[in-house]
Amino acid sequence: MAVINPSNEELVIILDFGAQYTQLIARRVRECRVYCEIMPFDTPVPEIAERKPKGIIFSGGPASVYEDGAPRCDESIYEIGVPILGICYGTQLMAYHLGGKVTPGVQKEFGRTELDVTNSQVLFEGLDKHLVCWMSHGDMVETPPPGFEIVAKTASTPVAAMENQKRRLYGVQFHPEVVHTPWGTEVLRNFLYNACRLKGTWTPASFIETAVKEIRAQVGTDKVVCGVSGGIDSACVAALLHKAIGDQLTCIFVDHGLMRLDEGAKVRQTFEDYFKIKLVYVDAEERFLKRLAGVLEPETKRKIIGEEFVRVFEEHAGKITDAKWLGQGTLYPDVIESGTKNAAVIKSHHNVGGLPEDMQLKIIEPLRYLFKDEAREVAAELGLPEEMVWRQPFPGPGLAIRIVGEVTKERLDTLRHADDIVVEEIKRAGLYRELWMGFAVLAPIRSVGVMGDQRTYDDTIVVRAVTSQDAMTADWAKLPYEVLERISNRIINEVSGVNRTVYDISSKPPATIEWE
Ligand code: XMP
Repeated sequence: MAVINPSNEELVIILDFGAQYTQLIARRVRECRVYCEIMPFDTPVPEIAERKPKGIIFSGGPASVYEDGAPRCDESIYEIGVPILGICYGTQLMAYHLGGKVTPGVQKEFGRTELDVTNSQVLFEGLDKHLVCWMSHGDMVETPPPGFEIVAKTASTPVAAMENQKRRLYGVQFHPEVVHTPWGTEVLRNFLYNACRLKGTWTPASFIETAVKEIRAQVGTDKVVCGVSGGIDSACVAALLHKAIGDQLTCIFVDHGLMRLDEGAKVRQTFEDYFKIKLVYVDAEERFLKRLAGVLEPETKRKIIGEEFVRVFEEHAGKITDAKWLGQGTLYPDVIESGTKNAAVIKSHHNVGGLPEDMQLKIIEPLRYLFKDEAREVAAELGLPEEMVWRQPFPGPGLAIRIVGEVTKERLDTLRHADDIVVEEIKRAGLYRELWMGFAVLAPIRSVGVMGDQRTYDDTIVVRAVTSQDAMTADWAKLPYEVLERISNRIINEVSGVNRTVYDISSKPPATIEWE
């Protein structure tokens, strides 16, 4: 697979020793406008050196350094000669390697801890002497290696931070990357800017500039196809490819008829009218609805939609006979996580957009080193409309998995209308960006109501709004009563065939965000 690597000259490598927070470290470093990549702890040192990093960070990890099989990098890493910052386990490993003493914590430290800065020259520059940090460790460094100075301590951790200014090696026992260490980013910034002497050149504009060059170099005069869905990832890829190769790009938008109100039209408007991208718009509503008729089971719906999507896409991509490349909106978390996850299939999520191998298109993934928030920044810089840049996630199978029971055109229209009201009111209340998602679900429940003097026996709309960081867990959103009231009143009054609205107050787990 062809990989575009944003060869930013200010590269920092994060060695992953198995911490749950490694991605967070990377995000914080990127927030400091420094480009970084995560690599496994056992990456051969020459391979690391070859990338010419300007700094290295050792992540934390659950192991104990003296344990058999504990993850350890090769000691020659210190010979590369660039500054290294250890975090938690990373610090213990540094101490272990360089002749310090690590002991099991007599008193394990978890959570908020008061920290005193004693003598820091680099890490704590510009910070108070007395701080609150987030600790989560059993083992700890008892004696730092020769040449290191203790620069911070807590009541039960004698070496909460250490520095060897001569060799530019640093270690912190706490977690600067978590939000509970609010000044943690400053510590990282001090490491990056003062120890590694970086300037912070990683900006959306610099990314675009390099990506455009690399796309051109990779693709040459070949034609590229790219599926767009209205979502931020595919929109960003399309806009970026278009900037790089103009008319060599053709986008395909398969409208499966399961989109939200006016969504298809907005996607066309953005790509065709505004960006002047060649767009093949495929109105496939009828095909999808025909195949979904009578289907009730959620996973069967997903499977049908996935299969049909690939088929339609293939038919149309196949017409662009000389296309050699397929653009995809893969992001960095997918890259980091793929292959490492063994989670049970709760829902077959990534079934939409996959393509059969016999299409023989080479894959180009210009966003594969970006986090979602960075993709948003890049999209905004490329001029995508705010509505698309900030669009909440929307599942590939669309509204089909928000209609519990059979998907019909009529039920889709009912849901579309109700959903539009939910989103509009959430936006009106200024809550749209705070929520991971806010939407409507059409339940398979009818209930009795009274409208005027008439008895009704109509549908029920479920309103679902959740907050989340990554969709792995989610909390139901505590929407103000007034917002809920407006949503409910409007749905019942404006959407025909609905006489009841309920609010879903389940968190994930044990519920999931979507209803199917
Ligand atoms: P759940 O319902 O599993 O959803 O808590 C987590 C996130 O994934 C999205 N989702 C999907 N996305 N195809 C997709 O592309 C799917 O089949 C699918 N199912 C759920 C969901 O919208 C939420 O953001």
